[in-house]
Amino acid sequence: MYTNIITSQNNAVTTITINRPSKLNALNKETIQELHAAFRVADLDADTKVIIITGSGEKAFVAGADISEFADFSVTEGGKLAAKGQELLFDFVANLSTPVIAAVNGFALGGGLELVMAAHFRIASDNAKMGLPEVSLGVIPGYGGTQRLPQLVGKGRAMEMIMTAGMIDAQQALQYGLANHVTTQEELLPLAEKLASKIMRNSSVAIGAAITSINAAYEDGVNGFKVEIEQFGNCFGTEDFKEGTTAFLEKRKANFPGK
Ligand code: COA
Repeated sequence: MYTNIITSQNNAVTTITINRPSKLNALNKETIQELHAAFRVADLDADTKVIIITGSGEKAFVAGADISEFADFSVTEGGKLAAKGQELLFDFVANLSTPVIAAVNGFALGGGLELVMAAHFRIASDNAKMGLPEVSLGVIPGYGGTQRLPQLVGKGRAMEMIMTAGMIDAQQALQYGLANHVTTQEELLPLAEKLASKIMRNSSVAIGAAITSINAAYEDGVNGFKVEIEQFGNCFGTEDFKEGTTAFLEKRKANFPGK
């Protein structure tokens, strides 16, 4: 059904694999549209509790936006490219209520790292390399990179990474807080699945509310504390809250309906 991605579902986890290995999984327009569709389907699917995004092959997660597609763009076309991409994929993923884990299996450059940063958190294989090399092409990150990199690693480190157009390795990504865990390539997806299974024991409604509240801290003109109060209050009206508190008081494991 898709040309450039593969989706699979197992144990309430939907795994989306970007699959253009001959182009190091570079994000062309079609891939971005397919990713939008696949994330949307997974988010709406009541049987999907966690989404994992990864790249096919052992070399690259995604080596960036597809340079061959935008090399001859005008100022207007360039602006539209960034706006459309952010809307369809990067902001879309960041604001999903289903948790998204990026499993970075190799190069995550430019738009690839921007997709990784749009995910809710990240793990990496020990051969991963991350960077925003756009200034080496005469452009800047346009899929949220100038905003999300400083949020994740701090302003000074982001400035250095973007200005030098350099790559950091998995250990440095771990040290910077860009990856939460580093493991071998073989153990990468099993680790993502293990983290997913820990997440799905909890209330999916409460997790969605937590994502909204955490994201609110990074939105201009939004008072995150107010959003938290509202989201906190809303939880009291959910079946999950009733089940979670009742199970605790009855000294049993909660069985959340996800409502
Ligand atoms: N856009 C389009 N095609 C890309 C691409 C991108 N971002 N990244 C890699 N590819 C293609 C290459 O053109 C090559 O295609 P070809 O075999 O048809 O010539 C193929 O993927 C393999 O890449 P190659 O460069 O031969 O692999 P390598 O191992 O020598 O180098 C990288 C790997 C990641 C260092 C190198 O591909 C690279 O620098 N890519 C661009 C990174 C970038 O600037 N991204 C930001 C874009 S905004």
